[in-house]
Amino acid sequence: MLIAGNWKMFKGPAETAEFCLGLREQELDGLDVVVCPPFVSLAVAVQLLAGTEIAVAAQNVHWDAEGAYTGEVSAAMLRELGVYGTIVGHSERRQYFGETDETVAMRVHAALGAGLFVIACVGETEEEREGGETENVLRRQLSVLEPDDNLVLAYEPVWAIGTGKTATPALAQEAHAFVKSQLDAPVLYGGSVKPDNAAELLAQADVDGALVGGASLELESFTAICRAALRS
Ligand code: PGA
Repeated sequence: MLIAGNWKMFKGPAETAEFCLGLREQELDGLDVVVCPPFVSLAVAVQLLAGTEIAVAAQNVHWDAEGAYTGEVSAAMLRELGVYGTIVGHSERRQYFGETDETVAMRVHAALGAGLFVIACVGETEEEREGGETENVLRRQLSVLEPDDNLVLAYEPVWAIGTGKTATPALAQEAHAFVKSQLDAPVLYGGSVKPDNAAELLAQADVDGALVGGASLELESFTAICRAALRS
């Protein structure tokens, strides 16, 4: 079971330090825990979580090792910092920053090649679900990826991200089973995971963990979700 906190564009180095010092004190043995701070806060997270089982991952990575790509960061640079993995293809990157299935594939390939662990995100929009397109969209998004020991998928229905609308456990299970039929990898659920709905989502057979946004920003709610995962 893996619980990852996607902090998005929240927490500079000072807030990151405070969170990590608190997280170090928690009893989370037996659970894979990952925090994904913004780029500028990765170094302090790596430093303060050194010697623990908690991993630090980035939220994005470029596909080239270096080059004239203003504003981008490479896998080699993340590795140099001691970062363990990265999220790729989050729906906010697809929606606001022109991420496509092709660029997702390039980023995933480069990250895995550089030895990073990858959480690759897929998921349909509300319009796509209502139009009966969910499976087609997932099939297309997954078609560019290949199984890898260091690849984990996150099924994040876009309509459930940051909206407070969570997929029902049955709907999540159905989507996860479909995702696994397309690509053999563990699948995290993401989209308004909170302490009060985590247990029933994590109890589904094909839900292998969670990618948590909003509720990962407070130590208390994040660790409550981790404890629910430990019990499941
Ligand atoms: P949320 O975000 O938990 O705030 O819905 C999840 C995500 O975007 O990874």
